[in-house]
Amino acid sequence: MKKLAILGSTGSIGTSTLSVCESFPDRYRPVALAAGQNVETAFAQCARWRPQVVSMATEELASQLQLLLKAEGITNMEVVHGTAGTVRVATLPEVDFVVSAIVGVAGLEATYAAVKLGKTIGLANKECLVAAGELILAAAKEHNVALLPIDSEHNAVHQCMRGGEAREVRQVWLTASGGPFRNTPLAGFEHITPAQALKHPTWVMGQRITIDSATLMNKGFEVIEACRLFSLPASQVQVTIHPQSTVHSMVEFIDGSILAQISVTDMRLPILYALAYPERVDATPAPGLQFDLTALNQLDFSVPDLNRFPCLQLAYEAAETGGEACIALNAADEIAVAAFLEGRIPFLGIPRTIERVLEQTSNQHPSSIHEVLEADLRARACARDVIAHQFSGVLR
Ligand SMILES: NC(=O)c1ccc[n+]([C@@H]2O[C@H](COP(=O)([O-])OP(=O)(O)OC[C@H]3O[C@@H](n4cnc5c(N)ncnc54)[C@H](OP(=O)(O)O)[C@@H]3O)[C@@H](O)[C@H]2O)c1
Repeated sequence: MKKLAILGSTGSIGTSTLSVCESFPDRYRPVALAAGQNVETAFAQCARWRPQVVSMATEELASQLQLLLKAEGITNMEVVHGTAGTVRVATLPEVDFVVSAIVGVAGLEATYAAVKLGKTIGLANKECLVAAGELILAAAKEHNVALLPIDSEHNAVHQCMRGGEAREVRQVWLTASGGPFRNTPLAGFEHITPAQALKHPTWVMGQRITIDSATLMNKGFEVIEACRLFSLPASQVQVTIHPQSTVHSMVEFIDGSILAQISVTDMRLPILYALAYPERVDATPAPGLQFDLTALNQLDFSVPDLNRFPCLQLAYEAAETGGEACIALNAADEIAVAAFLEGRIPFLGIPRTIERVLEQTSNQHPSSIHEVLEADLRARACARDVIAHQFSGVLR
């Protein structure tokens, strides 16, 4: 029985992880949960799973949850809050496996603390690796920790990498659905609304990652993530537009062989792979994970147009620079995406904001999580400033 801590239990990945636990109750049990604002869902999860510890984003939310638990007669659960709370969840001695799925850098300290305690990590949160990958990988190496990617592309690459040695890899191909605007002419990009951008053609995900998929920034983050997870330079990580989202990524070896991973577009599968690794488990108890190969009749691949998706180009540049550039890329994107969703900047305001922030970012390499978080705050302030000055008259 693997005992899990789930950071971001109320989110899309968190609930998919709990669904996997539901399907395999003899294998995986959540013993610690960390949520943000959603008290109602956190309460339902506590009532169902009876974790030892649960954390909410703030003290007030933790008190609300405690009241609900008390009314239900649940009095022996430790309810904590804030960053210290997520760290407590991730470092609980009973926990064997930490699913890192808090959106943004809010889960960074907890994930880092878990790595330092030698816990196996299922990494969904890409911002952790983008912002603090250099530190997290160094700690993982020092403590002999397995970082198992849950992000479907890296999970696919991880699976394909088992077919050869790292030195035999020519390049990695990350597939991208291309998002809802892969065929939109450049002129149409100025008028894209949040509602249009939130309609992802193949995946159902949280709001930020859905917008990041529409700008291809999500793919840009994945390029950085792949460089870090698989120790590759950005030049060996390619992106290909694959609208069917059937091939989740590929690894090309030096002899010309390309291994691809194909499966349904359902995050429960990479979660199950990571939880079961190095084994594979029969997925029959989790309905819907089998891929019907007989229904497959077309696989298209094409080169992304960097003029229409400047975020991807910005990410490649940040991947080459590393350090604070990657932190600023992520932080500025988060601020710009929020501003776009609130109708304060246009769709193309997202890459424009990030570009301005990157121009003002130093190329230092932080040597602690504290320095990472400081650089993150600086980049956020800079992004807010750029938005306030450059888009003050722009209202959708
Ligand atoms: N969804 C996918 O298919 C997918 C695929 C690959 C990678 N990822 C990555 O996985 C991560 C999670 O994505 P998601 O789609 O699951 O996002 P989501 O649905 O927006 O969920 C985010 C989770 O983070 C929690 N959270 C936010 N701020 C918090 C804070 N300050 N303290 C504690 N918890 C906090 C939220 O809690 P509340 O809801 O309670 O506020 C929620 O549980 C992201 O980094 C994303 O890029 C997601």
